[in-house]
Amino acid sequence: MSYVECTRCGDHLAADRPQNVCPKDGGVLYVRYGLASLKGKLRREDLSGRVASMWRYAEVLPELPDNEKPVTLGEGFTPMLPSREHPNVYIKDESLNPTGSFKARGMSAAVTMAKHYGLKKLAAPSAGNAGGALAAYAAAAGIEAHIFMPKDVPIANRMECDYYGAHVTLVDGLISDCGRMVAERKDKEGWFDVSTLKEPFRVEGKKTMGYEVAEQLGWKLPQAIVYPTGGGVGMIGMWKAFDEMEELGWIGSERPKMISVQAAGCAPIVKAWEGGKGASEMWTDAATFAAGLRVPKAYGDYLILSILKKSHGTALAATDEEILAAMRRWASVEGVFAAPEGAASLVAYRKLRANGFLSAEDKVVLFNTGSAYKYLDMIEAQEKKARPVPAARSIGGIIGPY
Ligand SMILES: Cc1ncc(COP(=O)(O)O)c(C=O)c1O
Ligand SMILES: [Zn+2]
Repeated sequence: MSYVECTRCGDHLAADRPQNVCPKDGGVLYVRYGLASLKGKLRREDLSGRVASMWRYAEVLPELPDNEKPVTLGEGFTPMLPSREHPNVYIKDESLNPTGSFKARGMSAAVTMAKHYGLKKLAAPSAGNAGGALAAYAAAAGIEAHIFMPKDVPIANRMECDYYGAHVTLVDGLISDCGRMVAERKDKEGWFDVSTLKEPFRVEGKKTMGYEVAEQLGWKLPQAIVYPTGGGVGMIGMWKAFDEMEELGWIGSERPKMISVQAAGCAPIVKAWEGGKGASEMWTDAATFAAGLRVPKAYGDYLILSILKKSHGTALAATDEEILAAMRRWASVEGVFAAPEGAASLVAYRKLRANGFLSAEDKVVLFNTGSAYKYLDMIEAQEKKARPVPAARSIGGIIGPY
């Protein structure tokens, strides 16, 4: 790791101390490595036999002194499952990560670096899963975590944070309100802000999904990747990974169409995309049971929208009813009990096949970003809303048999 670079003005900042965003223009910072000197020295074949976690890509992750180890719980290198329903479709199953979502990757990297810098108190707003992941990695690192979450997050998120020993504040509002509280209090409290895209290392952890897509598909990227988008770090990280792999000579210049799926009740990126805008507007009255997609304004919206454009991708929304039906479909046909955010990828795939944006021949990776087991209360409530009279086979039903 040589330095961090602003994605807006291109300024370079030192990476030997903690950084948040560009002090000049608030731009998101990207970590840059001396990839040119690695080209030819680090080959794809060198990965075989390495640890089956995201840390197998150590050379393109923050470098640590010999006496320091990453804060790891075994995150990454999740299964790439060929779909049983759709030929040429793969489900990248991030639900198998520690704490049950892809958020583990970003927090493993961010907490590793926080420990390296000697930071003692971290803070973040969270729609749910990021908080759980931060709490777990902070516990493993012996660092304090201060987490601000909407009061109606899934029970699992509140409970895991509590058990991991984090300081949790439940907020009568959305993740944007939580973010404001962190910003207002962090200086006084001595917290380092690890909000989405407000420190450079969560992207580094999440970019490993891009490396895995390439490695697990034999170093040929798919025609399209569908990603449930809240703050957008998964999408942003993968795009960065593709550029890095090209610099390393591991892949060519081809890129998948990047497709953002959001919830119809909170779809600021879709609205901006459809309006041809380069940034999004704050979404009012955001509501969806896909808690991780309830992000009314993404800090890195300008990066997401530029990736959609550059990749010839698109953005589309799924209603809660469609998401619930897709969850049942994936569970009953694929054996994958997906988080609502993940199941939204299936809704998107079906719509894009129906309107001809994708064809049956296209190789497509659908990201299941998390586990349904963390949403049981939300799913039950959604089932009741969808089917007020319990059906015999409904999980809300009191009449059998199954
Ligand atoms: C399961 C799940 N999927 C997707 C997202 C959205 O991720 P991102 O903020 O990287 O767009 C979240 C965020 O909380 C999540 O928990
Ligand atoms: Zn800048």
